[in-house]
Amino acid sequence: MRIKGSVPLNGTIEISGAKNLALPVLVATLLTDDKIILKNVPHLSDITSLLDLLTYLGTVYNFQQNGTIELLTKSLKTTEAPYDYVRKMRASILVLGPLVAKYKEAKVSLPGGCAIGARSVDLHIKALRQMGTEISIDNGYINAKAPKGLTGCDIIFPIATVTGTENIIMAAVLAKGTTNIINAAMEPEIVAFCDLLNCMGASISGQGTSTIVVNGVESLHGTEFTIIPDRIETGTFAIAAAVTNGKLFLKNCKYSHLASFFETLFLTGVVHEEKEDGLIVYRKSEKIKPVDIQTAPYPGFPTDLQAQYTVLMSLCKGAASITENIFENRFMHIPELTRMGANISVHGKTAVVTGVNKLNGAPVMATDLRASVSLLIAGLVAEGETIINRLYHIDRGYENIDEKLRNCGANIERFSV
Ligand code: EPZ
Repeated sequence: MRIKGSVPLNGTIEISGAKNLALPVLVATLLTDDKIILKNVPHLSDITSLLDLLTYLGTVYNFQQNGTIELLTKSLKTTEAPYDYVRKMRASILVLGPLVAKYKEAKVSLPGGCAIGARSVDLHIKALRQMGTEISIDNGYINAKAPKGLTGCDIIFPIATVTGTENIIMAAVLAKGTTNIINAAMEPEIVAFCDLLNCMGASISGQGTSTIVVNGVESLHGTEFTIIPDRIETGTFAIAAAVTNGKLFLKNCKYSHLASFFETLFLTGVVHEEKEDGLIVYRKSEKIKPVDIQTAPYPGFPTDLQAQYTVLMSLCKGAASITENIFENRFMHIPELTRMGANISVHGKTAVVTGVNKLNGAPVMATDLRASVSLLIAGLVAEGETIINRLYHIDRGYENIDEKLRNCGANIERFSV
């Protein structure tokens, strides 16, 4: 991607469906023999990777350009999720719960490491064992068997885990008896995911609080469901508007999904106006005020917006500390931003950002999804030209991002060398 800064972004951006809801919702097709119809599913490479795995398992689907997809898993071909699929997209671990719940067995590759951290799945495994699954780990694979089916019980997560919560919910919906998930993740995607499963005949309550109660049922049926807007995409473009001192109308997003994020942005001098079908976001004050953040599970400041927020603070009047509490290696954008003139020093899980007057365009390297998009935002505000390599990281989580930004005045083009 070649970006010529610095251009204030002005216009409207249509927020796409939430990647981190679409992924677990697609996997839910494994829980029923009926057809599921989903609307507003974003066309992203992470979604394609998951659909490749589901096809391998036996799902058939028809994915239309307009984001509507029909899926049917009538006859499973295998209960094995090979390393080649799982390594491409770690959320593939989500097939473990439903395969054991409905087919009483699964052989799923361990996801392995990831750029942002070890991202172990030990809590997924521990919880499934508590529900009656015999699990052994051999040659990098999770071998799971539950010949007598699963039994509901109390699951206490020592830390809030998003896909851990989702995996156990899918295991519990067909288990015998009730499962109480304590210290469950509370993200809007978890709430919507439970709503979908209830539309399929599940009996779930408490979603959105730290205790989710799942009463097992005999079977689930098909349904039609619409994916909620992507709050991380919303936050990403809100910061792009603020950093470039522009004004964006973010269509279809919900303020309530990002309340603590927007409250932080308000303290930096960035305001939003709520409309019935979206938010207008712009910077009210000339200068960007420094505001410290700590990332935390929902409803705290989202870790997925930490890198983008770092770009905003790199141009603040003063200095701010940014503490990453969720992942152990989520500062890979910092050396690249430093090459663009940012003044940031890292001490363990805290980065201290001292504001500079401007950033300068430079060739930079994308590393993980959110670090990559933070470099793109930096390129929009930097003076001169920025070249971002390894764009596949960005295409994993942002649908048509260059087109959306070009429509708001950005000088941005994709090219291959
Ligand atoms: C989900 O990942 C999201 N992915 C991530 O978004 C997001 O950053 C993360 O939640 C935190 O909000 C999807 O929903 C597909 P966790 P997940 O389990 O579920 C540790 C993006 O950019 N942990 O909530 O994998 C883990 O290492 C992606 O869209 C264990 O130790 O995250 C991490 O430090 C990146 N053992 C912390 O918990 C476990 O068994 C939170 O991880 C599970 C997790």
